[in-house]
Amino acid sequence: MDTVPLRALPTADLAAARGAASAFARHGHVLAAFEALHDALGDVFRLPLPGFDGVVLVGPEANRFLLVDARDSFRWRAEGDPVTRLLRQGVLVTDGALHDEFREMMTPALHRRVFDSFIASMNRSADRVISDWRDGTRVDLLTEMRRVALLVLVETLFRDDFGPRMTRLWPAVLRTIRYISPGPWLVWPGVPRLGYARAVRRLDGYFHGLIARRRARAGGGDDLVGALIDAGLSDEVIRDQLLTLFIAGHDTSTASLAWTFYTLATHPDALARAREEVDAVLGDGAPTAAHLRPLRYLECVIKETARLYPPIHLGSRIAAVDIEYQGYRIPAGTRVVYSIYLTHRDRRHWPEPERFDPDRFAPESHEPRIAYSYLPFGGGPRNCLGAAFAQVEAKVVVARILQRYDVRFVGGRVRPRMRATLEPNPGVLVEVRKR
Ligand code: HEM
Repeated sequence: MDTVPLRALPTADLAAARGAASAFARHGHVLAAFEALHDALGDVFRLPLPGFDGVVLVGPEANRFLLVDARDSFRWRAEGDPVTRLLRQGVLVTDGALHDEFREMMTPALHRRVFDSFIASMNRSADRVISDWRDGTRVDLLTEMRRVALLVLVETLFRDDFGPRMTRLWPAVLRTIRYISPGPWLVWPGVPRLGYARAVRRLDGYFHGLIARRRARAGGGDDLVGALIDAGLSDEVIRDQLLTLFIAGHDTSTASLAWTFYTLATHPDALARAREEVDAVLGDGAPTAAHLRPLRYLECVIKETARLYPPIHLGSRIAAVDIEYQGYRIPAGTRVVYSIYLTHRDRRHWPEPERFDPDRFAPESHEPRIAYSYLPFGGGPRNCLGAAFAQVEAKVVVARILQRYDVRFVGGRVRPRMRATLEPNPGVLVEVRKR
């Protein structure tokens, strides 16, 4: 039987490398260089950087292949990566039956039916943060939204108040996020990483205190911490799940909220329309579950923002076996990433991809949408565990703030920066005025 010879994976030649370098120089961020490589090399290409020899997959077909059809040929866990070292046995970095067990334990605590009480907490957290804003002053919404996201996450999922610990643990939170962000360790895995062990110890101290307090109470309870205790997990493994949710559940929401305010504050028509809708739907009251569906334009804004600036801009896997895809061979052990950012900016699926146009997501929009061409929360059985939570949180927090404050963008040029999530760099500076 004839076999078709497998092709070598496209790799940047001098011309493609020059194109990427000039895109980087023009736009001032690495993802612009990735876009140039995608244009030059297609939907499957190899990125042979020193210390990071990986394959990049782009587009609906490739996403479905990695996330669904061939998912068992990939594993998540990469021993030695900072995220694996940090989260140890966390649901995000385990594979197979162990992963599925953890996921099953945590799913009920993140189910929509428990959201009513979460919405009250989301309002409360937003109110606590904005109560510090003085009229006419400037605030950085990247910082402020991190405060909101931390309060929300800890109160809803851990039933604890992070407020009194915010100042003391803030540097440890930021350091831990830096630890898992791209950096020199990608090309030099042995690079000394000073100060991180201490930061992680501080967070561990907080989580172990929380677990001890909950164990001291009779019975676990019906929330997330209770479910993990009732499942009989050790303190160490509960810590791994709590830290996973703490990082995965607040850093992403921080980026999502900050980018949403950035796109709104830099598009006055969209801001005016969103605010009009918020006023009409909410009146003077705080957002409740009944208000979520009528906030339709705001939902389009949040979705379009996540298309342009997906907080998780790629997902990373390791080929567990030799893999064949579209006539290419990907040897076992290769790192393979699916690019959410490049998929969301592919002009074959998104006309004028650079344009911020929330109406793309309006129910009456007739643009055909191909499955896996829009995936801010990933896809398949390992999609985001907090997707529903995050979407409700974004709507409630943005609506509450628009209802109470005018925000005027006063920052300079903002570019996407690859940290643990895709962040607006240097931040989202706005002037706030009480309405
Ligand atoms: C806007 C906010 C968020 C975005 C954009 C986001 C995005 C994502 C993406 C793309 C993945 C899949 C990554 C991959 O395929 O490698 C993921 C997984 C995950 N997310 Fe989120 N996320 C958000 C908020 C949250 C929240 C609020 C929580 C928890 C409360 C959470 C918990 C998780 C967990 C535990 C996983 C791993 C699931 C598994 O491996 O089975 N995320 N998220």
